[in-house]
Amino acid sequence: MADATDAVDAVDANERAPAAAEPEAAGRPGPTGYLFDNDSDHAVEQHDCLAAAYDAATTQALARTGAGPGWRCLEVGGGGGSVGRWLARRVAPQGAVVVTDIKPERIPREPGMRVVRHDVVRERLPESAFDLVHARLVLMHLPERDAVLARLLRTLRPGGWLQLDELDASHAPGLAMPDAAGARLYARFQRAKLRALTASGADPAWGAHAAAALRRAGFADVDPRPHVSVWCAGSPGARLQAHHTRHLRGALLEAGMTEEELERVRRLLAHPDFLACSPAFYTVQARRR
Ligand SMILES: C[S@@+](CC[C@H](N)C(=O)[O-])C[C@H]1O[C@@H](n2cnc3c(N)ncnc32)[C@H](O)[C@@H]1O
Repeated sequence: MADATDAVDAVDANERAPAAAEPEAAGRPGPTGYLFDNDSDHAVEQHDCLAAAYDAATTQALARTGAGPGWRCLEVGGGGGSVGRWLARRVAPQGAVVVTDIKPERIPREPGMRVVRHDVVRERLPESAFDLVHARLVLMHLPERDAVLARLLRTLRPGGWLQLDELDASHAPGLAMPDAAGARLYARFQRAKLRALTASGADPAWGAHAAAALRRAGFADVDPRPHVSVWCAGSPGARLQAHHTRHLRGALLEAGMTEEELERVRRLLAHPDFLACSPAFYTVQARRR
């Protein structure tokens, strides 16, 4: 069986010589429709908010796989790299983590972690190379997610683990607002975000469909677990939403919001009487047979 270094080098090779699109990805030329952008001035804030909101649930679930010294791990769409770093500390130095992203520049390097520019839609992954593959909030953005699942299945060794962490953003109601105007504004903001995501090719509710998709793709032992919390002013979730009003400003304006409404949303999210239900965040684990 290949060791950790072989697996890392096999992904790294894509950077030096990008593979031609495989058949399932052919016919979709051009850039990904991914709505956020790691080149944006807002990206550091986005990655900090995501880590604060979701790293606890992600790492608790990852720990259940038994990931430890010697494991070869692949972190797809690593963003700011917080989960890749957590994995590297568990598996290195005998094991290693490859952290990929289409725009990996902001991922800090650390021992046991190799950062690679890689497009999971269009570029190959090595066969049967990893003990664990993790991706958070990546597949919901990719219209080609079923083809990506087939690729992730093949890059796992038999018995290897996949963990996908994904949202169902279709239900995230305001629970108590300072006033009726605030309640209407919050509902309007949620709808605009769903429209903006959908227009980019994302499936904002994919978290609720991920387990079924994994079964269809041939994974075994599919285990979806939803996590829901209440967001108040200052919570990681409220900060993430305020961040959306900045990072997604253009898309939200196109989806029908105004600058003045976005400013009011920011004030609402910081109001001491703001309470909302988070969207369900699913950690979904499965194994290659
Ligand atoms: C919403 S962010 C999530 C980042 C990180 N996984 C987290 O949860 O903190 C999605 C990430 O996926 C990356 N991404 C988007 N399309 C991708 C693709 N086709 N291949 C690899 N990464 C991709 C983006 O650049 C971004 O860093």
